[in-house]
Amino acid sequence: MTIGRRRALFLALVLVHTSLLGAVAVARQAGADQAPLMSDTYFKNVQVLKGIPVDEFMDVMGMFSASLGYDCVSCHSEQLYNDRAAFAISTPAIQRARQMFVMMNAINKQYFGGQPRMSCFTCHRGQNRPGNIPSLAIQYGELLEDPNSITIFPDTRTTVEAQFAKYIQAVGGAQRLAALTSFVAKGSYEGFNTGGGPVPIEIYASAPDKRAQVVQAPEGESTKTFDGQRAWAAEPWRPSPLLPLVGGNLSGAKLEAMVQFPAGIQKAFSQWRISGTEIDGKRVQVLQGVNGTELPVNFYFDETGLLVRIVRWNSTISGVVPTQIDYSDYRDVAGVKLPYKILMTWTDGQNTFTLSEIQPNVTINPTRFARPAPFARR
Ligand code: HEC
Ligand code: HEC
Repeated sequence: MTIGRRRALFLALVLVHTSLLGAVAVARQAGADQAPLMSDTYFKNVQVLKGIPVDEFMDVMGMFSASLGYDCVSCHSEQLYNDRAAFAISTPAIQRARQMFVMMNAINKQYFGGQPRMSCFTCHRGQNRPGNIPSLAIQYGELLEDPNSITIFPDTRTTVEAQFAKYIQAVGGAQRLAALTSFVAKGSYEGFNTGGGPVPIEIYASAPDKRAQVVQAPEGESTKTFDGQRAWAAEPWRPSPLLPLVGGNLSGAKLEAMVQFPAGIQKAFSQWRISGTEIDGKRVQVLQGVNGTELPVNFYFDETGLLVRIVRWNSTISGVVPTQIDYSDYRDVAGVKLPYKILMTWTDGQNTFTLSEIQPNVTINPTRFARPAPFARR
């Protein structure tokens, strides 16, 4: 069995090949309203992951891939190279994964009071066949701290207030931030879903939390929007040509939109905790925002006070999956420092945004942020 192959690259191959064929699952359209598409009505051969929205279903596929160190075709039929419908074929690995899901739920139910303590990752940890002999290398090796941990330990050397004040100062100060109410950014976008090379992107942003991105993907114009309340994706690699985002992906879209305007971050969460860790050997301060019973969001600030990373989590029927966004190359836009490089990493793939220009305070038609037309091939 393969461990070393990069699943993100494989996903790219799969989806580029299949979308070249054109035919495919594009026939089914999202409803006009925001009702989520559900897994067992939308897909063809769902036996255990029933009754969940399609975008959560794809997060589960990310959980499976990440946990086993697999790409999509490690479990799914290689017929995928020619036909996207081949996702529905039951291979031996898929049958095994279904059994594992049932086993995992049984363990959680019987031994953890129904709490989702056990996930695929608990045993697999990036391997298809989890070891059952203790590793001396691990036992006596260096302890690695994961900066992305959801559990943080309080840092008493500084306070949440002080860190936010430092951040606001670092990006230009409250007054200049208040004066930046919108922007349009241009640049390039690269990832598993662009056929390997960079393609043009435009990002539209309006304070406090509206965002739209338009990517000129090889197959056609690919759009993702958040109108302040609702989010949609009309992208060729998604299971549907127009997917309303729900649950953790809706919160994620809101977060992505909100962080574009730093002034709103602190009040977007009712509770904050502060901690410290390291990213690439450099000291960072972690602020963890919490709203009620939702999963928290980690914000990482470097020593100059700039935001360098966000980690958020999506809850799925098969455990929790992380998404990491890294911000760098801060440059001055109307007196406000904005990141020109954004790297998004999650269990289904990785995307790089490299911006070349950002125009501040542009009037943007509100329809930019509304529900886009379903994805259509060029
Ligand atoms: C560890 C094995 C495993 C990996 C890796 C995996 N899947 Fe799956 N996939 C499954 C299983 C199991 C099902 C069926 C779920 C069920 O029966 O409820 C499934 C079903 C699907 C379906 C629904 C097909 C249909 O029409 O019924 C799609 C789409 C899908 N997977 C996409 C993906 C993508 C994209 C990836 C890579 C990011 C991926 N899967 C990686 C195990 C896997
Ligand atoms: C309690 C521990 C445990 C959990 C939880 C668990 N697995 Fe496994 N899984 C194993 C072990 C152990 C094996 C290897 C069995 C062997 O060596 O044949 C395995 C094997 C597999 C295989 C076959 C891999 C191969 O190459 O033969 C698949 C696929 C798989 N697991 C998927 C999953 C998925 C998907 C989940 C989450 C829904 C999951 N597992 C959760 C312990 C676990």
